[in-house]
Amino acid sequence: MSKKKQIKNLKKQLATASAKKVLKEVDPRHFINLPDIGTKTLRKILDNAHRLKKEKYSHVQIFDGLSMRMLFDKPSTRTRVSFEEAFEQLGGRARVLNKTDIQLGHGETVHDTAKVLSRYVDVLMIRTSSHEMVEEMAKWATIPVINALTDNSHPCQIMADLMTMEEHGKDISRAHVTWLGDDNNVSKTFAQAAGLFGFKLTMCAPEHLPLSDKVYKGKNITIERDPKKAVKDADVIVTDTWRSMGQEAKDNARFEPFQVNGGLMKLAKKNAIFMHCLPAHRGEEVTDAVMDGKQSVVFDEAENRLHAQKAILAWCLEKSKVRPKYRH
Ligand code: CP
Ligand code: NVA
Repeated sequence: MSKKKQIKNLKKQLATASAKKVLKEVDPRHFINLPDIGTKTLRKILDNAHRLKKEKYSHVQIFDGLSMRMLFDKPSTRTRVSFEEAFEQLGGRARVLNKTDIQLGHGETVHDTAKVLSRYVDVLMIRTSSHEMVEEMAKWATIPVINALTDNSHPCQIMADLMTMEEHGKDISRAHVTWLGDDNNVSKTFAQAAGLFGFKLTMCAPEHLPLSDKVYKGKNITIERDPKKAVKDADVIVTDTWRSMGQEAKDNARFEPFQVNGGLMKLAKKNAIFMHCLPAHRGEEVTDAVMDGKQSVVFDEAENRLHAQKAILAWCLEKSKVRPKYRH
């Protein structure tokens, strides 16, 4: 190859490399799938969440001048209020949109909605059944998109759960977590977190639920169908509703042996904690005595949604070029 051609090729490569670099820098940081973000970044977000909790009333207004829209296709108490508060306590402005109130619920495409909303606001949070829809929104949005629960996952919840485990002295690289009950969005995200952080997960669900080996995979994940065996030596016992939103017709009877009650809690380690993302169906997946008992950390867990989401939002917006006003 002639020298002239070599130089031309090199210039071309350099131009592409720098274009890629610029593009990478302005790529929005989405928070949709924990494995896509990676353990190192998630660890930093968790550390920031612990710090933000300690500094509760003395935050720098890092979201000053920024605006968030929160798209809800399903009900919510914790996610809605904790996201609104997280953003506003740090100086931003958060507003809720119900999917049926906007054109998205009346035939406008996700593509067009993503592009339009990206021109108005700085970050978009979505709760809807379809995980693919959230991915599609992220594909076209030029602002960060946050998954606030789909039928596949609930990553913001799991960040708060990991934070809560750490606060209560559980090492997320080695603790034994036992999940009892339904195989759902939250249990699936626990499995992803076990893969990323290394804690041991025992998944205990009724036989009629097949438990995909694509989801519950890895040396540190075990499937145990007997609840009494599953809770043995557990550091953390966790459950969730037997009927997730949109699946209200499920048959409760088959889940009854998986109810977290005093008898099962006694079989775990003495200092085991009880966790539940809430809302709880008291008397179904958990008894009042466990929910309100000494081992329950469910309200710390709910509070930690606020702190974890501040850290998630800070990460999503840290490199945002949309508004140069943003400072970290
Ligand atoms: N845990 C949780 O996401 O609760 P909400 O449905 O109330 O938001
Ligand atoms: N699995 C539950 C979680 C609620 C926060 C649901 O999807 O309804």
